[in-house]
Amino acid sequence: MQTKYEINDLKLYYGDFMALKGLNFSIPEKSITALIGPSGCGKSTFLRTLNRMNDMIAGTRVEGEILLSGDNIYAPSTDVEQLRKRVGMVFQQPNPFPKSIYENVAFGPRLHQKLDRKQLNEVVERSLRGASLWDEVKDDLNKNAMGLSGGQQQRLCIARALAVDPDVLLMDESTSALDPISTLKIEELAQELKEKYTIVMVTHNMHQAARVSDQTVFFLNGEVIEADQTGQLFSNPSDKRTEEYITGRFG
Ligand SMILES: Nc1ncnc2c1ncn2[C@@H]1O[C@H](COP(=O)(O)OP(=O)(O)OP(=O)(O)O)[C@@H](O)[C@H]1O
Ligand SMILES: [Mg+2]
Repeated sequence: MQTKYEINDLKLYYGDFMALKGLNFSIPEKSITALIGPSGCGKSTFLRTLNRMNDMIAGTRVEGEILLSGDNIYAPSTDVEQLRKRVGMVFQQPNPFPKSIYENVAFGPRLHQKLDRKQLNEVVERSLRGASLWDEVKDDLNKNAMGLSGGQQQRLCIARALAVDPDVLLMDESTSALDPISTLKIEELAQELKEKYTIVMVTHNMHQAARVSDQTVFFLNGEVIEADQTGQLFSNPSDKRTEEYITGRFG
């Protein structure tokens, strides 16, 4: 498998506080990587470094490097807007815009590309199909997205991310606000999407990490304790702290 991200001695400070303490591991492309660990250990902080969303938080400072397909995304020459197009993000709470379903998906392409109506229709359909939502909404494209269920809204947010043709999808506890059936739908969707995209997901659900991901990274206190193939990490963790966490003895 090709490496998508290589993380070299990554440190992140919020003011004086070191939230990521020198991380070294890599994320393979076209696969699902799960980030696990107790609350406050730095999972969301790390996820935000992958598309430089942390730039928007005042007082943050990054040291070390993150190579995305070989290029350091923290190099001064990086076009951050372009980076965020390449690396889409889906959050914990579905956050559609209070606009129509169509306009939610068309938003990014309208901003970044000059498409005529027919091309835009095609992008909207392709993205909604990609997010396994098309069949449920194809007759309601002009209805307000706020009228969809939570699970549908979350798939709409995935469609919105796919519409700008990213290579990476970041998901921060993106199923934790959903019912079990919607959760399963998103897990199945992630399995399909990994054929084309690299997916990095934060989850507090050990079953989800074990079920869905190919690699798992265990964070503790701003450090990576263990990063390995999911089967290996869950069946035979190399660090005692990993074992304690995945068996629910702490965290
Ligand atoms: N904007 C911020 N300013 C200052 N400190 C922050 C900020 N965001 C996070 N932190 C601190 O950085 C550490 C890591 O937080 P982070 O949100 O990355 O944890 P997490 O693993 O995602 O936790 P959770 O599972 O609860 O979402 C915590 O100590 C937190 O208090
Ligand atoms: Mg978090």
